[in-house]
This record gives sequence, C-alpha cells and structure tokens, in this order.
Amino acid sequence: KMWTIIFFILYDSQNGACTRCIIHLKLFKNIMTGNLTTNKTIAPEVKVYPELPVMLGKTDTLTCFMDDFYPPVVNVSWYKNGGSVSEGVSNTDFYSKQNLRLQMFSYLSVAPESGDIYSCKVEHWGSQDPINKFWEPEEPPSTSEVTETVVRAFGLALGLVRVAVGTVLLIKGMKHNQNIRRSSPF
Ligand SMILES: *[C@@H]1O[C@H](CO)[C@@H](O)[C@H](O)[C@H]1NC(C)=O
Ligand SMILES: *[C@@H]1O[C@H](CO)[C@@H](O)[C@H](O)[C@H]1NC(C)=O
Repeated sequence: KMWTIIFFILYDSQNGACTRCIIHLKLFKNIMTGNLTTNKTIAPEVKVYPELPVMLGKTDTLTCFMDDFYPPVVNVSWYKNGGSVSEGVSNTDFYSKQNLRLQMFSYLSVAPESGDIYSCKVEHWGSQDPINKFWEPEEPPSTSEVTETVVRAFGLALGLVRVAVGTVLLIKGMKHNQNIRRSSPF
C-alpha cells in the first residue's frame, strides 16, 4: 500500500500542480501512524442533476457528482442520446473528504430538448463495470397544460351531467308511456 502511494506521488508530481499529492501525503502520514482505515479501493457513488429548474431549450449545467471514492483515479465521460460528448465538459480536481475519501464533479453545459437522454459514465477500479447514470429533462407542467387539464375535466363533468339528465328524462318518458298505456281503453 505504501508503495502504491509513493507511486501516486511520483506520478502526480509529473503533472505539474500536484494537488493530488496533498491527498496522498495525508494518506501516507496515516499509514505511517498506523491509521489504515481508508486505503481501500472504493467505487464512487454517482449522481447526475441539473443546476437550474429544467426549461426545455434553455442553457443549463448538468453535474455528475462522484462521491466517496478512493483512489483518485477516474475516467468520466458524458453521452447525449448515446453519442459521446466532449464539448462543454469541465472537470474539477479531487476534493478530499474528512474520511480521506474523495469527491469530484464533472459539468456539462446543455440545452435539453424533450426526449433527450444524457448520461455520465464513470470508470473506477472499485467497480468492474462502468457506472452509468442517466438523466432526462422533465419540465414541470406549464400553466397552459394545467388549464387544458382543467378544461378537459370540466368537459368530462359536463358530459356526465348530460348522461344523468338524459337517463332521468328517459325513465320519466318510459313511466309516462306506461301511464298512457294503462289509461288507454284498449
Ligand atoms: C485515523 O483516521 C480517522 C478517520 O479518518 C481519524 O478520525 C483519526 O483521527 C485518525 N487517527 C490518527 C492517529 O491519525
Ligand atoms: C481510463 O481510461 C484509460 C484509457 O481507456 C484506461 O486505460 C484506464 O484503465 C481507465 N481507468 C479506469 C480507472 O478505468
């Protein structure tokens, strides 16, 4: 385990900024002090959600949130209707949590249309298969739709009243006919 971490420090320091080194150094310290609670491979929990309430055709940002994983090695990719998307994607660095596991965010700028299916695919050593999370825009019902529903419900109620009135008239008519027949001399 210690060698893995030393490897990661060397590997990350080649990438310049080396923000991940801090995470690894923390872990290194923990291992040296006998605190081995977090050096397991743990797959992220993944969630996909929009930043704003959905408005079809309006620009919004989808977030792919990867939570509680270790080590800091992931591949994130976005898909729209099954096709890979690379434009409008940005990834954050890894954030270290209190328990020394990590969080990371990937963002995709979108203008969702009805019927679109977006997905975020996350590959991590903690999961044998890639983790796919799907998102579809669901617009809250607009006022015009609500009005339409009310009008339709009203129409249905009116129809029922008509049927009821019709039935009453029919029964009355039948009784009337019987009375006429009864009172007829033949
Ligand atoms: C060991 O790790 C746990 C959880 O991260 C932490 O609360 C605790 O203080 C650590 N112990 C030492 C000796 O570093
Ligand atoms: C990320 O993708 C590369 C290239 O496809 C692959 O070699 C590597 O194993 C992947 N990493 C993970 C954690 O799946």
